Amino acid sequence: MSDTPTTHGATGYQRVLDSDVHPAPASLRDHGQVDLGTGGVSRARYVDADFQRLEHEHLWSRVWQMACREEQLAEPGRVVVYEVGDLSLLVLRTGAGTIRAFHNSCVHRGTQLRTADGTVERLRCPFHGFTWDLDGALCELPCAWDFPHVDPDALRLPEVRVATWGGFVFVNPDPDASSLDEFLGSLPTHFARFPLEDRFTTAHVAKVLDCNWKVGLEAFLEAFHTFAVHPQLVTTSGDTITQYDVPPDERWSRMVTPVGVPSEHVTRVVDDPEILRSMLITRDDAEVAIPEGSTVRAVLAHRVRTDLATRTGRDFSDLSDAEAIDGIEYFLFPNFVPWAGFLTPLVYRFRPWGDDPGRCLMEVMLLEPLPAGTRPAPAPLHFLHDGEGFADAPELGYLGPILDQDTRTVARVQRGLRASPRTETVLAHTQEVRIRHFHRLLEEYLPTDPAT
Ligand code: FES
Ligand SMILES: [Fe+2]
Repeated sequence: MSDTPTTHGATGYQRVLDSDVHPAPASLRDHGQVDLGTGGVSRARYVDADFQRLEHEHLWSRVWQMACREEQLAEPGRVVVYEVGDLSLLVLRTGAGTIRAFHNSCVHRGTQLRTADGTVERLRCPFHGFTWDLDGALCELPCAWDFPHVDPDALRLPEVRVATWGGFVFVNPDPDASSLDEFLGSLPTHFARFPLEDRFTTAHVAKVLDCNWKVGLEAFLEAFHTFAVHPQLVTTSGDTITQYDVPPDERWSRMVTPVGVPSEHVTRVVDDPEILRSMLITRDDAEVAIPEGSTVRAVLAHRVRTDLATRTGRDFSDLSDAEAIDGIEYFLFPNFVPWAGFLTPLVYRFRPWGDDPGRCLMEVMLLEPLPAGTRPAPAPLHFLHDGEGFADAPELGYLGPILDQDTRTVARVQRGLRASPRTETVLAHTQEVRIRHFHRLLEEYLPTDPAT
């Protein structure tokens, strides 16, 4: 019988790890949290167009941000249009195989060079035909006789900095910014056992949400809402014993939610076969039998290891129970949410959508481990239309309806924030500490904040 945990947060989670059959690694045993006080967040940050303008000018123009996956740039000439706020970039694979990013704006009179991803040999402006090669050098200047005052070598496409980590391409428009390595801090060490570069995209789904990008993001920085928004999960998810980690002097945070443990919000007894039945989606009694000396979590983890090995032809036998099944979600400022672990190989990204502070673009990726010896092509972007939900993307499987529960909620949050007479939200001390941390980091980028 699984005990309903009575100790909250990291203490409760570490207790779960204490009884795991396959012990968790040190990175999950570590728990760090700076005390960020008890303050809330100014309502204006979510609803005010002026605040969003400040973000465009001071955040997105200066921060490292995930632009795309390297696998989206598999061949020379592949180009991805990456946009946020006023920023529009062309991220591409050059003939030499390097990755470069250029401002998506013609040097002549400013026309956008491309409006969509694709494959090109050169970048040609549709207005008067100025053309650049994949290294950003001007290679065709129509009516060059009329530009005697111009040095073609000086008309390179303006370039922005590019760096990669974990199979992701990051860009930073600020030439004076510190390196991506410095920005990531200790994050890569946490993914040493989950190399995201050794995965491939099996789903990439985007949807415009009727909420500010921070409202969308913040719904995924806490497990507090699980019992209210996802009541179907409470018998198998230890929401209130989620461990929240906010290490000092880092731009990332983490939460780890144990799976295979009932929530304290469940007021009845949940026995082990019930947990296994709902996790394994089975009615077969043999499948939900727990061998002598094993546990629910060990049975679930064994299933995950076996499934992974079957699907990939690779060995996952050294995976701890926690790594196999728990929800291990990292957040890298400002908008990138990669999960470690294997049961839910998710990545989220949130961006403002145009100039409307009440809309944002949410993207969901699934990154599955690569099959041995091959790299399948990544799934194409599936952009959901208005009226469609994540459940309309079958490639997301059981996650689609869960994500729809979240996205329905965040639209109500935005509407309610607009209606609120209050100036500030109220945040839980521990369960919403990552939201507080996110806003501290945001403040580092903004000028003295008019919306405090
Ligand atoms: S605006 Fe691009 S060639 Fe004229
Ligand atoms: Fe949720």
